[in-house]
Amino acid sequence: MKTIIEPFRVKSVEPIRMTTRQQRETILQDAHFNPFLIHGSDVIIDLLTDSGAAAMSSEQWAGIMRGDESYAGSESFYRLRSVVEDLTGFDRVLPTHQGRASERILFELVGGPGMVIPNNAHFDTTRANIEHSGAEAVNLPIPEAADPTNRHPFKGNMDVEALESLIGRVGRQRIPLVMLTVTNNTSGGQPVSMANIKAVRRICDAHGIQLYLDACRFAENAWFIRQREEGYADRSPRDIAREMFDLADGATVSAKKDALVNIGGLLLIRNADLFLKASNLLILTEGFVTYGGLAGRDLEAIAQGLREVVEPDYLGYRIRSVEYLGQRLLESGIRIIEPPGGHAIYIDAAHFAPHIPREQFPGQALVCGLYRWAGIRSCEIGSVMAGPARHADMELVRLAIPRRSYTQSHIDYVAEACAEVFKARAHLRGLRIVDAPEVLRHFTAKFAEV
Ligand code: F0G
Repeated sequence: MKTIIEPFRVKSVEPIRMTTRQQRETILQDAHFNPFLIHGSDVIIDLLTDSGAAAMSSEQWAGIMRGDESYAGSESFYRLRSVVEDLTGFDRVLPTHQGRASERILFELVGGPGMVIPNNAHFDTTRANIEHSGAEAVNLPIPEAADPTNRHPFKGNMDVEALESLIGRVGRQRIPLVMLTVTNNTSGGQPVSMANIKAVRRICDAHGIQLYLDACRFAENAWFIRQREEGYADRSPRDIAREMFDLADGATVSAKKDALVNIGGLLLIRNADLFLKASNLLILTEGFVTYGGLAGRDLEAIAQGLREVVEPDYLGYRIRSVEYLGQRLLESGIRIIEPPGGHAIYIDAAHFAPHIPREQFPGQALVCGLYRWAGIRSCEIGSVMAGPARHADMELVRLAIPRRSYTQSHIDYVAEACAEVFKARAHLRGLRIVDAPEVLRHFTAKFAEV
């Protein structure tokens, strides 16, 4: 069969409130043309993020009832730890309330003034936590990542020569660890090959530097390796994921992505001393080591989600559904980052609305257009998000696909809406900022149409 269907059926539904174009016009104005200020109930299809937006399975909900809420020694923690150990090989496991809490603890321990942390590309919160510690965050993507139409199969890879020369320049003493983000969210949800992880590992070994994964989307990365890298076609995603984790000394994980839950995170550390220090910091702000800022029921849901996410049927459907949306947009003449990523489609808004200059935020204009026309909420990743102090390389709009929440007809609706807005793109209007905080302005900035 050609059609890859959703490998689940629906047991519980959440109604979508339909709105009219006229209602959305008022909502958009009341929200000052900022999607973060729109109420969720006023959105028809919410593609703001794939984070914490997954639909849980019946087994995960069953786990919610099983949750052991003991302050110390919760059975749910031991079950989670055994699932994580089975999957990743790490037996030193800390739960945290989400990915950035793991980052905060890790970089308080290994960061600090003078330190340099390279990554294929840091996610915003990772960069922010590194800089908050006083250290410097450096992105080392391969050059192909900068070209939206280049269909490199592993566009998330790190530039290993650039890594060597960075180590040569700043010295290994100033680099406590190298990070690899799988998949690479910043470059378009693009995967990192096993060969690249191994090459980075070899360099780390040669210089005595640790290698950490930002493993939020480890299962999607494993699926791309299986599909695209020689020698992996017959290996299970679980097996490939294990090989990835075996190459690392630690990992920060936001469970809100590939653990298929609405809240949670993990910090995995091989080194016993560092793990002990991290455990003490965890107690300071997150909670005791057997719950780390979560309820016992959350730990159960993560454990079950980690079992389900590596199922080939799930991953085949997941990656195909995102790719399908990408293909439909390309067929409509819309330029996207190619090839489609694992969790999102990134539209090139500068190409979409060439009549809107960068200073008038073409990405934000497209975000407003998609909401106005079809009630779709998306997110600008361009000059608005970069802020006044940084230069955005591209003006992008991200359509992030929540896991298991939407069906093919929802995706068809999104594809149609994008094509309609593209046809009417001359009507998209630029924006100016009326009011914005100095940092992380995209969350709360107020805009007016030019
Ligand atoms: N690392 C990556 C690669 C991420 O994409 C995210 C979150 C985090 C770390 C932080 O995890 O949100 O649990 O604290 N990304 C979300 C997104 C917010 O929309 O891309 P968190």
